[in-house]
Amino acid sequence: MERTLIIVKPDGVQRGLTGEIIRRFEARGLRIIGMKFMQVPEALAKKHYAIHKDKPFFDGLVKYITSSPVVVIAFEGTNAVQAARNTIGSTKPHESPAGTIRGDFALEIGRNLVHGSDGVENGENEVALWFDAAELVSWPRNTDPWIFEER
Ligand code: RTP
Ligand code: MG
Repeated sequence: MERTLIIVKPDGVQRGLTGEIIRRFEARGLRIIGMKFMQVPEALAKKHYAIHKDKPFFDGLVKYITSSPVVVIAFEGTNAVQAARNTIGSTKPHESPAGTIRGDFALEIGRNLVHGSDGVENGENEVALWFDAAELVSWPRNTDPWIFEER
């Protein structure tokens, strides 16, 4: 089963969109295995976005994600990574189709509301970076057989 890390970024929390954003992933069928509300430490922000450390927007990105609390959710599901990315939409919200989170609620790249892991291996790594093993719950959901086909 794939894992993906979703972060409701500071603008999502400040705008009262936390519930709406989580609702979309939950309704899609993804299973929550971890969730927390937190102020992101600068060191964690830098680690999370390490791949962008040489980009001109890096400092602004770290400032944005640490500027105000976030909600972090670990989701599990078949095809979780690609499905979540599609639900989120494009990095540039003004190019993101209506029906996606960014396409419905955002206008600018630096205020794009939500993070989602961009690959299967990154999903595993990011969940491990943001959650201790003890914070993750493995549980059988009653609706699982109606969402995940038996293989
Ligand atoms: P995220 O990692 O936050 O889910 O976003 P993403 O995959 O759609 O985009 P990514 O390329 O990973 O970039 C990470 C975040 O950096 C900011 N950004 N600014 N000014 C720019 O050109 C620029 N490019 C990226 C965005 O906030 C983006 O979400
Ligand atoms: Mg990314």
